[in-house]
Amino acid sequence: MGRRSVLGGAAALGLAGTAFGTTAHAADAPPKERTRAGRFQGKSVLITGATSGIGRAAAKAFADEGAHVGFCGRRVELGRQVEREIRDAGGEATYVQADVRLEAQVRAFVDRVASRYGGIDVAFNNAGIGSGKPPHEMSVEEWDDVQSTNARGVFLAIKYEVPHMLRAQRGVIICTSSSAAEQARPGSAAYSASKRAVQGIVKAAALAYGTRGIRLNALLPGTTDTPFVRPPGIPDADWSTYKRAWGPLNVDGLERMAEAEEIARAVLGLASDDFPYMTGASITVDGGSTTGRKMLQPSGT
Ligand SMILES: NC(=O)c1ccc[n+]([C@@H]2O[C@H](COP(=O)([O-])OP(=O)(O)OC[C@H]3O[C@@H](n4cnc5c(N)ncnc54)[C@H](OP(=O)(O)O)[C@@H]3O)[C@@H](O)[C@H]2O)c1
Repeated sequence: MGRRSVLGGAAALGLAGTAFGTTAHAADAPPKERTRAGRFQGKSVLITGATSGIGRAAAKAFADEGAHVGFCGRRVELGRQVEREIRDAGGEATYVQADVRLEAQVRAFVDRVASRYGGIDVAFNNAGIGSGKPPHEMSVEEWDDVQSTNARGVFLAIKYEVPHMLRAQRGVIICTSSSAAEQARPGSAAYSASKRAVQGIVKAAALAYGTRGIRLNALLPGTTDTPFVRPPGIPDADWSTYKRAWGPLNVDGLERMAEAEEIARAVLGLASDDFPYMTGASITVDGGSTTGRKMLQPSGT
């Protein structure tokens, strides 16, 4: 398996859109009483793309710290599973099936979370897909799907989250960009472009809403061990071996991939009250992979 297969890897490209729906059992029951205190006690947290990976880890971490979490993704079974895991652990979460490429679904999802949990205190716009082809091998449809999910999807989420936050005159929005926005790969044209776009949207929106109580920042994770990069069906032992070899070759700082929970911790930090003066920033959490390269000597010298 080469670099390209990992970077383009298991990232789901262009899965067909699904019908909008919600889990019937969670529809109108009142939020559970929280038993655990935390930084986000009683806060309403919205996450796009939390059926898997970083979003899933963030949903669990926010719920662990007392948040009421409303999240979306297209895969109903996974969404219900994450919702169930959070509730079984004593947390509060609602899964809403929504595709971030579809305006009506994004709007309905955002409004549903706001009405269920009394507004939106924090939004984590995280849904994304990868791509691993150089331009001449990529179809226009594939290009459009990456932009539509990663860039337009973030725009749509912000568009419908902000009115709720403006009403409250407060809110924090974190959008998932990528270290690939800063450091391209041969096959990352569509992906890097889309993640640069996320940075641009965040910077402009930070200026638009700064004096109205809303802060926005972009998070740039490095390669993270999620289904985004892990080839489907690979046995755990083989994947561990591969990761051990991959780290020193690709991450000159920490020499390993990130775990989803580590990226989630950065999200919670950015969403907390700890950084009230931070807005419009691009925060890289990549183990040093874009910091620079170690000096390599030609073999035999
Ligand atoms: N893993 C990495 O190495 C890495 C590095 C840098 C940045 N990122 C970024 O981090 C974010 C999360 O990725 P991940 O690593 O956690 O990958 P993942 O495990 O594949 O999760 C991606 C999430 O996005 C959702 N999603 C994708 N397309 C969607 C759509 N059209 N509508 C709604 N939800 C959609 C998926 O849900 P459904 O499939 O159920 O819709 C899933 O919950 C992405 O934006 C990715 O670009 C990842």
